[in-house]
Amino acid sequence: MIPSLSRAAFFACLALAPLASAAPQPLTIEIQADRPGAAIAPTLYGAFFEDINFGADGGLSAELVKNGSFEFTDPIMGWGKIESAGAVGGISIRTNEPRYRNNPTHARIIVRQTGEGFGLRNEGYRGIGVKQGERHRFSADFRLVDGPPRTLRIELVDPKNQVLATAKIDLTSKTWTRLETELIPTATEPKAQLRILTDQPGAFDIEAVSLMPVSTWKIRRNGLRADLVQLLADLKPGFLRFPGGCIVEGRTLPSRYQWKNTIGPVEERKLTINRWNVEFANRGRGAADYFQSFRLGFFEYFELCEDIGAEPLPIINCGMACQYNSGECVPLDELAPYIQDALDLIEFANGPVTSEWGRRRAEMGHAAPFGLKTLGIGNEQWGPLYFERYEKFSAALRARHPEIRLVASAGPGAENEHFKFAWEKIRAMRDRPEIVDEHCYAKPEWFLNNTRRYDDYDRTSPKVFMGEYAARTDTPNTWETALAEAAFMIGMERNADIVTMTAYAPLFAHADAWQWTPNLIWFDNLRVYRTPNYHVQQLFSLNRGDNLLPVKITSASLAENGQPRLYATASYAQQSGEIILKIVNATNLATPATISIPGRSTTPIEARIITLSSADLSAQNSFEAPNTLSPHEQRVPLTSPSFSHTIPAFSFVILRIPAAP
Ligand code: AHR
Repeated sequence: MIPSLSRAAFFACLALAPLASAAPQPLTIEIQADRPGAAIAPTLYGAFFEDINFGADGGLSAELVKNGSFEFTDPIMGWGKIESAGAVGGISIRTNEPRYRNNPTHARIIVRQTGEGFGLRNEGYRGIGVKQGERHRFSADFRLVDGPPRTLRIELVDPKNQVLATAKIDLTSKTWTRLETELIPTATEPKAQLRILTDQPGAFDIEAVSLMPVSTWKIRRNGLRADLVQLLADLKPGFLRFPGGCIVEGRTLPSRYQWKNTIGPVEERKLTINRWNVEFANRGRGAADYFQSFRLGFFEYFELCEDIGAEPLPIINCGMACQYNSGECVPLDELAPYIQDALDLIEFANGPVTSEWGRRRAEMGHAAPFGLKTLGIGNEQWGPLYFERYEKFSAALRARHPEIRLVASAGPGAENEHFKFAWEKIRAMRDRPEIVDEHCYAKPEWFLNNTRRYDDYDRTSPKVFMGEYAARTDTPNTWETALAEAAFMIGMERNADIVTMTAYAPLFAHADAWQWTPNLIWFDNLRVYRTPNYHVQQLFSLNRGDNLLPVKITSASLAENGQPRLYATASYAQQSGEIILKIVNATNLATPATISIPGRSTTPIEARIITLSSADLSAQNSFEAPNTLSPHEQRVPLTSPSFSHTIPAFSFVILRIPAAP
């Protein structure tokens, strides 16, 4: 369970939920199946990934060694000396005669007396999670400096120093050599440590230390954590936005995300500090050991998109650092290298293998293009400075790549002055972006009060990408937040002619190392669980129809406080031949409804009803109780074009009703 910050604040918030008291009158939901409306974009429900909350290093990247390259600001962070009884020696940090040009720092182990063993230990990311019987590949670069060839002992130990796995490596070469061995733990342990020990005097250098489970997602060598990718894949996202978020911007321009530094051999990807290392240090959520190794880099992001069938949506820095931090801006006449990065990225994704960047992609093992269609220019930028830069990017990209759709930012708020300025500016543009990225983190009431937000949007404007949103309460990821998001999503789906992309944010959080709440998926070194918000996202995504169908809710459809008693949207799914009706009941009263589909045949059929509900708005899932909230499905026979179903209090209900097109 994620820590509760303030129960009092939570219950204050709960009181604002639309509660009804009188016995509910039945209402009628009529679906006009003979009047198919706008197409629903396959990208409507996507996912947002950012390396926040140890989402990449220590998360999606399956690498278990922290600071394996000794490149952190404190090069020995994550490492410790093992000096058993009678041992004398030291560890020095060096950069001369490096193994890797971009990450030159390495460690020298100097042993004068071995005693019962001398060496190094690594603590991993809040420990190293290992599973009994699973193969783990240890590898590192070594160089013998002084003394005879030696055998090193590589071990995994539990917090009491009980050995879980051991293997040997022979160190014979005086030039840098990559050596590897396998470790198979005898027990499962979430907080293991890695030990590298010698029992002979002398000296050797060590660099780029790695420990990876062999069973990564698709068994790739520089692979991803399979259980985390599986949950992402199970969302069936229409697109995957990467690499963020604020991480695109950097606190300063030099620390911005630069995709070219994230491809090629992993050991040569230049490590940088992660902006979330310090961002919330003043709120007690700093993480001094948070860096970006880029083991999960742009090649891996594109490959991941392909694996899970999601359209890639990279966001590129637009020549501005985060406006909440330094706000550094590249002068307009010095923007060319930034624009070139965008052009080269398109070539990296889509170019032929004969092109410079297409060749780099092919060298990494993917000769076929990745099929990039959409590119975001800047993350959460605002004001005239942004649009001056956006227009420069747009002019250059349109000239070379008119086939690429562009996403412009509407800033960090969903209705503030930056937001209004952005939309006015965009509407006035001669060459508008195809899509506008809106962001919204707000209380559940905001989401309930804004289910009609898009009903009045100008239909001639660019399409909307609700690119980051989440309902926030002091206690994160409660049913209350997920239900409010579901009501808001009904409103987005109903307006699928204008809203074509949406993503909850952020996606992942390490329960022992987070900076931001709420998040869609929580994990630790060995476990993972889906939040109620995850179930809502997944239900929308798996139950997306192809075309909207008009829905009319009649009779006494407002609760006592003026809020709708039910929110509903309907669509038709061609492939399965079903009407999909989604209903949210955000009140505390079960509501009987007559669902009518005029003109539907009377042939007996079976409908599927999927329900996600809880009477307890404060309910959460957790590692210990991962299924407190999870959907359940029932099948009901239907014989007439109209039938009754009671929509439970505080519920999200989906009905899939077979119907001829
Ligand atoms: O999702 C977390 C952060 O929220 C993102 O990095 C940023 O774009 C937004 O402010």
